Amino acid sequence: MVEDGVKILSNVVASSLPLHAKTGGIIPETAAREQLRLMIPTVEKALLESKLKPQDLDAIAVTQGPGLLGSLLIGVETAKTLSFVWNKPLVPINHLVGHVYANWLENPSPPKFPNLTLIVSGGHSELVIAGNHGDFEWLGGTRDDAAGEAFDKTARVLGLTYPGGPAIQKAAASHKHIDNSLPRPLHDSGDFDFSFSGLKTAVVNKASNKRFSDQETADFAASIQEAIVDSLLNKTLKAAKKYNVKELLLAGGVAANARLTEKARESFSGKVHVAPPKLCVDNGAMIAAAAFFNYKPVPWQDVQADSGLFF
Ligand code: KG4
Ligand code: ZN
Repeated sequence: MVEDGVKILSNVVASSLPLHAKTGGIIPETAAREQLRLMIPTVEKALLESKLKPQDLDAIAVTQGPGLLGSLLIGVETAKTLSFVWNKPLVPINHLVGHVYANWLENPSPPKFPNLTLIVSGGHSELVIAGNHGDFEWLGGTRDDAAGEAFDKTARVLGLTYPGGPAIQKAAASHKHIDNSLPRPLHDSGDFDFSFSGLKTAVVNKASNKRFSDQETADFAASIQEAIVDSLLNKTLKAAKKYNVKELLLAGGVAANARLTEKARESFSGKVHVAPPKLCVDNGAMIAAAAFFNYKPVPWQDVQADSGLFF
């Protein structure tokens, strides 16, 4: 529950991560079933923590896409039902736009326009420029794996737990040496695209038939993290320069990475916005914030989950 797009009254997150950790990644059907089980209790808890009653709400925001269809359907159909029963406007939100608006939550100096956002999550790595609320221009994105996927897949090769991003960051903290020879593809490609599949292959090749000591694992994790961060920031800085933007926003689960924020602040001369880690990863408050600043209600009968939705 969010007030005026910036103040969090409650932000209850029901996570199925422990189940995905057991299988080393997300099985879409497991995620959807768990979401179905936890959906109503989560809405109830969010109301309870905010001390609001359904009649106090101005509107309901819901993620329409992109994402896993089973999970999107459960969220969208629940929101449509609540919109009908409570007689509240329903605002469908693009999940990627939702990540951008985590930067407005509880931020005493929120982003100014124009700005550039690097959206890096489990399924996306995109660069978008915004002239105003809702006025996004897509500049480029990954041609293969997303940055989060690169963390998750390489962590698995190192024998680290899912999700791989936090596991690699934790292991990397005790590194002594960084190997800068890991690939940073498309470095001088002249566009704003990313590619991470070559990094994954290089990590698999380097790790094949080897057993690593804890120190070697820490060094390898730090080298992977550095390669991903370098690839992301190389294109981000080029885009910031070309479009002459003074504000950079980091968004999505990978924005929780401390090395990414640190290196962005070292290398970008303007202001870098990044939400606290718990608001970078998936949460409901960011979707509510996006709905406040992009208020376009749609009759509930017309709202459809769309796994392929893009900007
Ligand atoms: O945005 P998100 O919560 O879910 C999607 O919409 O995909 O992002 C999840 C991704 C996972 O790939 C996870 O490994 C990554 O974000 N992630 C991190 C960190 N925390 C989460 N990657 C690097 N460093 C972190 N600290
Ligand atoms: Zn997300």
